Amino acid sequence: MPLEYLSRMYERANRENYAIGQFNVSNLEFVQAAVGAAVELNAPVILATSSSAIKYAGIETLVAMVRSVADRAPVPVALHLDHGEDLAQAELCMKHGYTSVMIDASHAPLEENIRISREVVQRARLMGVTVEAELGRLGGIEDHVKVSEREAFLTDPDDAARFVRESGCDALAVAVGTSHGAYKFKGRPVIDFERISAIKRRVGIALVLHGASSVDPASVADINRYGGHLEDAHGLDEPSYREAILRGINKVNIDTDLRLKWTAVLRRLLAEKPGEFDPRKLLGPARDAVREVIKEKIRLLGSAGKA
Ligand code: G3H
Ligand code: 13P
Ligand code: ZN
Repeated sequence: MPLEYLSRMYERANRENYAIGQFNVSNLEFVQAAVGAAVELNAPVILATSSSAIKYAGIETLVAMVRSVADRAPVPVALHLDHGEDLAQAELCMKHGYTSVMIDASHAPLEENIRISREVVQRARLMGVTVEAELGRLGGIEDHVKVSEREAFLTDPDDAARFVRESGCDALAVAVGTSHGAYKFKGRPVIDFERISAIKRRVGIALVLHGASSVDPASVADINRYGGHLEDAHGLDEPSYREAILRGINKVNIDTDLRLKWTAVLRRLLAEKPGEFDPRKLLGPARDAVREVIKEKIRLLGSAGKA
């Protein structure tokens, strides 16, 4: 199918209370893994590229790769810019055929964030492209930070209502306790679920959970067993996903879990098969393992069968 506009996916996910998985890609194997998993489970899927993915692979190559795989898939596939930096970058992606862009001006004060996000929305409307904006700050929250200081980083429901009204964004990324990467929590996940509900009540639109990898202990153990070094890596657990979705999350962003599984499989294969130097014999199994991770996520998010 041709690339799908994300607004269509959001509309149904919001109505039926499930989430769509966003999987970050920058190479052929991750694109095949994500689309293959979605086809197998008859699910809609979002492929996202960050600025560094675009820098790594080149925007033309990424778009051509995603299009050629998506065209032959009987499920809706959206191509999304993750953490877009400014209007120019968002426009570049729209011109190249992205069906959704994120503008992340969450570092700016509220007024400026609204102004920057609104400009992207106005431009995107002309092309039918969906826009995600972010309010609040993610980032590692240290143990010694006081509750009041921690709260200052999280998305304020009143600000969110104003932000969505004035920017016109289609989806809102919220800060509710998660952070990017493999080191999210010291132990059990701490997510402000009540805040998700409060924001949803005020804005009604699709909410997005960034930093949502679960940091699978088995992948971490394999990485460490085969020469890697990762300590105290913890992410979300299954009940956290369910609760977040129940309260209004409709898009869940996963990158770290794919990278961890990829690295675990590659490290193991390189150790177990010292004579192997055919990239397909190394990257192929890693791709298939990433595909299984994505299938697990799709099932957990409730989007299996929703294509
Ligand atoms: O949100 C960040 C994503 O995981 C993308 O990471 O900038 O290393 O591609 P990246
Ligand atoms: P993780 O690092 O938890 O996979 O989060 C990815 C993300 O939020 C991409 O925007
Ligand atoms: Zn993110």
